[in-house]
Amino acid sequence: MKKSQIIFSTFSPLMAVDTELVGSGAEAVATPRVYSLCRCGESGRKPLCDGTHAKKGFVGEREDSNKPALEYYRGGEITIVYDRYLCMGAGFCGELEAVFGTHDAPKYEPDAAPVEDIIATIRKCPSGALSYIVGNEPFRKYYGATRIVVEKDGPLHCQGEITLIDDQDSDLLLPDADHFTLCRCGGSKKKPVCDGSHETNGFKGG
Ligand code: FES
Repeated sequence: MKKSQIIFSTFSPLMAVDTELVGSGAEAVATPRVYSLCRCGESGRKPLCDGTHAKKGFVGEREDSNKPALEYYRGGEITIVYDRYLCMGAGFCGELEAVFGTHDAPKYEPDAAPVEDIIATIRKCPSGALSYIVGNEPFRKYYGATRIVVEKDGPLHCQGEITLIDDQDSDLLLPDADHFTLCRCGGSKKKPVCDGSHETNGFKGG
């Protein structure tokens, strides 16, 4: 098991263990070894939890029962791997429209651009939804440091060797996943992961 963990139940905040926290201004945030991060969107101490979820009756159940289900798009030199569940719609893939299409009309054309351009684009994907295979080797791990980075008015970017544990033994992530984004606005339909709802629900998280 990885040393750093994020643990939660249906009704709880996110409990981080042995995980460095970086604020939305790129500042290191001093925390105890175990600390709680808001995921109801209502804390007065964001990104930390202040207990408001209990007063508001927060329920973190997913409305969408999607689970990781990898899709493979094979090309001559590279296979694009897409995990629809993890996608937060950050949109970096749209920068390479010939390969990934647009937000409204996505596609996966692994032979439509140089391999190095496809790899550079995939590596910008913060949610881990996109990865790739060259030869027989999957490439999913890009982060050396293990930490949680707060995005201003957006999700928690979890990077490095972090195990995500819930109270239902859910296999939310691949065992070797090293980056994913967790909802902290309370509005995601794919809780605990971010689905991009913070972009439209007016979330202000600092
Ligand atoms: S932070 Fe809640 S959906 Fe992105």
